[in-house]
Amino acid sequence: MNKTVLVTGAASGIGQACAELLLARGAKVTAFDPQLERMQDTLGKSDSILTLGGDVSQKQDCVDAVTRTIDHFGGLDGLIHCGAAHSSARWDELEADEMNRVLAVNATGSFLIAQAAATHMTKQGKGSIVLTTSGSVLFGVTGGNGQGGPAYVSSKGAVLALTRSLARALGPSGVRVNAISPGITDTPMVAGYTDEQNAAMKQRFPLGRFADPEEIAEGAIYLVSDKASFMTGENMHINGGSGFGG
Ligand SMILES: NC(=O)c1ccc[n+]([C@@H]2O[C@H](COP(=O)([O-])OP(=O)(O)OC[C@H]3O[C@@H](n4cnc5c(N)ncnc54)[C@H](O)[C@@H]3O)[C@@H](O)[C@H]2O)c1
Repeated sequence: MNKTVLVTGAASGIGQACAELLLARGAKVTAFDPQLERMQDTLGKSDSILTLGGDVSQKQDCVDAVTRTIDHFGGLDGLIHCGAAHSSARWDELEADEMNRVLAVNATGSFLIAQAAATHMTKQGKGSIVLTTSGSVLFGVTGGNGQGGPAYVSSKGAVLALTRSLARALGPSGVRVNAISPGITDTPMVAGYTDEQNAAMKQRFPLGRFADPEEIAEGAIYLVSDKASFMTGENMHINGGSGFGG
């Protein structure tokens, strides 16, 4: 893939899988995550990768990530934004501080990294942005034992609305904005589930299992590629069929 893509959350899980698959397919990748050392260990060093420590809830970190990508690789074609904060607090234990922390990273952070990328992409008249919402928005999950609670699910609902707002605003400038909506995926984010919870959840999936991070990354890479050139404002569900019935 002859593109330069900024991937957030690249130190772990789905973001790491996106970075690895893009590198394997010949793309140039800026990998962005607060866990800089972990990212450097897992993704290694080459001419095709730039690793940057940073926090998407900080506007300057987002602007710097875009500027440094353009300085290093000469441009920016795509953004795949996977970085996120998790919160399992239930409605009766969730404090305002926790709610605000999760919204700052997941909702405001999605906006800030998209805004930084779009500022460059609108000038060049093309680009593709992929944000990450969650299948939990469909179910209204309630938290506890590692499951997303009201702070997390609200933040992911905001990402879905943001995707549509940005798609409408940026489409006339040639910039597409879509979301992926993963079902439960085997990553550290869901490592707190109990065995009982895992078994019960898997029953909701017609495929009878959770996703591997690479299966989600494939959807994000499709959306960021020119193959999805007429898609914008969409939410791609990749959830093993867990979004209907049952
Ligand atoms: N794993 C699932 O079941 C699942 C389901 C639905 C949606 N998602 C979403 O997929 C995305 C990737 O999740 P994952 O399962 O790979 O999780 P993960 O915990 O494996 O990885 C998340 C990454 O985000 C990074 N991150 C945290 N705060 C950040 C910040 N402020 N700025 C930049 N990066 C930050 C972390 O350091 C980590 O590397 C997230 O947006 C998550 O909400 C995951």
